[in-house]
Amino acid sequence: MFENRTAVITGSARGIGRAIAEAFAEKKCNVVISDIQDVLAQKTADEIAKQYGVKAIAVAANVTKKEDCVKLADEAVKQLGSLDIWVNNAGVIRDDLLMRMKEEDFDLVVNVNLKGVFNGMQAASRPMLKARYGKIINISSVAGLVGSPGQANYASAKAGVIAMTKTAAREFASRNITVNAVCPGYIQTDMTGALKEEIQAELKKQIPLAKEGTPQDIARAVRFLASEDADFITGVILRVDGGMAIGM
Ligand SMILES: NC(=O)c1ccc[n+]([C@@H]2O[C@H](COP(=O)([O-])OP(=O)(O)OC[C@H]3O[C@@H](n4cnc5c(N)ncnc54)[C@H](O)[C@@H]3O)[C@@H](O)[C@H]2O)c1
Repeated sequence: MFENRTAVITGSARGIGRAIAEAFAEKKCNVVISDIQDVLAQKTADEIAKQYGVKAIAVAANVTKKEDCVKLADEAVKQLGSLDIWVNNAGVIRDDLLMRMKEEDFDLVVNVNLKGVFNGMQAASRPMLKARYGKIINISSVAGLVGSPGQANYASAKAGVIAMTKTAAREFASRNITVNAVCPGYIQTDMTGALKEEIQAELKKQIPLAKEGTPQDIARAVRFLASEDADFITGVILRVDGGMAIGM
């Protein structure tokens, strides 16, 4: 299903992004590992190429920079022959209560998590519109659905990603490009591992399935949305959260 396809995943040197890249590689999809951490991205690409026997290249890109995203799309086509799947996964947190939040922390989080998705979709859409084929998946968060104390910047950006996903889905539908979003709940990664223990315990209590998610849980959902099985699905916001935000 994914053979000879190319998937670009932003922020994929580690964490959920890496797991998404591995899920594609497992099904023989070639992958572009892209991250602001260039050395780690190269290492991840080399490991994936070796383990799964696919083409895996690393392209350093800061998603807040339009020109980096354009170069990323160009390199995917140039080095791997096509650009079929693009996952906007890069993200950061800079948590603080709204009252105390520094302006620079608000700006950084919105720049990476929201504008980065805009830059990514704009860059991906050029070759996809030409090919009249494409699968775009944006990584939002349950924080964008229900809000999250201490994350006014992050929750706003992730809510923006949901609106942008629905808008792009409408704009690109006639060209056979689907655009969907995945909202992870509480997933064990470096990002959440850095949270205070009591916050981690509190988050776990809010999950009906009574366990935290894994990066692979998110990766399988992303792979489904990028597959032919999801050809008739666009503009969907898929929660992968153990039931954390049921009803939203
Ligand atoms: N872990 C969770 O519980 C959780 C929950 C909901 C949503 N998410 C979302 O999932 C995505 C992945 O998160 P994760 O937990 O794997 O985090 P992570 O911190 O482990 O990985 C994020 C990656 O993005 C990269 N990155 C940061 N800024 C970048 C930039 N400007 N340009 C390019 N790359 C950049 C980092 O270097 C890192 O490799 C993020 O969008 C995050 O908001 C995570």
